[in-house]
Amino acid sequence: MMSKSLIEKHSTSSPDENDAILLFSEDSHEIYWLGIPEHTAFRSNTYLIKSGDEGIIVDPGHRAYFSRVFERVRKIMDPSQISGLILCHQDPDVAASMTDWLNINPDLKIISSPRTHILLPYYNDGEYTHYDVVEQTVYRFSSGHEIEFIEAPFLHFAGAFVSFDRTSQFLLSGDIWGAIQMDWQLVVNDFEEHQTYLDMFHIDYMASNIACKGFVEKIRPLSPKALLPQHGSIIGGNNVKAALDYLDQLQCGTDIAYPHLSISS
Ligand SMILES: [Fe+2]
Ligand SMILES: [Fe+2]
Repeated sequence: MMSKSLIEKHSTSSPDENDAILLFSEDSHEIYWLGIPEHTAFRSNTYLIKSGDEGIIVDPGHRAYFSRVFERVRKIMDPSQISGLILCHQDPDVAASMTDWLNINPDLKIISSPRTHILLPYYNDGEYTHYDVVEQTVYRFSSGHEIEFIEAPFLHFAGAFVSFDRTSQFLLSGDIWGAIQMDWQLVVNDFEEHQTYLDMFHIDYMASNIACKGFVEKIRPLSPKALLPQHGSIIGGNNVKAALDYLDQLQCGTDIAYPHLSISS
């Protein structure tokens, strides 16, 4: 299949981050970055998957950023046509603006894991359409394009999961491969340097090497073309393999807190 990814192009130029940035386009299937322009070390990425007339927002973000994300969506499509939100877990930087999106369209589906659905009603009254994600659940757009979900237990939440867009082969990875970096760029150029920024987040947040290794084992066969995290730069091209290897080898969480008990190699 011909790749219609724009990730490589964005790794060599600096796109205008004050607007939505198109990352992939094929027929009527498009993926956009809708992130915030603030230069903070822990900035959040939000993504839009638009397929035909339908749109799904991945990790819509905190309420403080809702109006800006909404404006970006409005330039691309009618926001009332947003039919679902994918929430990779319940953290406020991921999920709090679900309240605002439900005000726009009370019928939209909240796509998340059962463990996350237990906690999401703390943001509203639980009055929303649940769409449950378990291992290998597939969401099918009316256009026929599909998103596959893969569970990522304890990275960092027990019920965390990632979303694999089968058309672009982009993996929308939530907090996994998230980075803390002041010197932000849309796409990673130098992965060796980027590992320092990944370390700053992963070593404390991710549960253990076993949790990372088990997840990588499930992801490798998908051969993702790019990793789109909720924090920090997008990882594309040759750096995908390096990023998978990085996570596979990572010592983190309980490996660090209780080294004398660690059973990982
Ligand atoms: Fe989180
Ligand atoms: Fe996060």
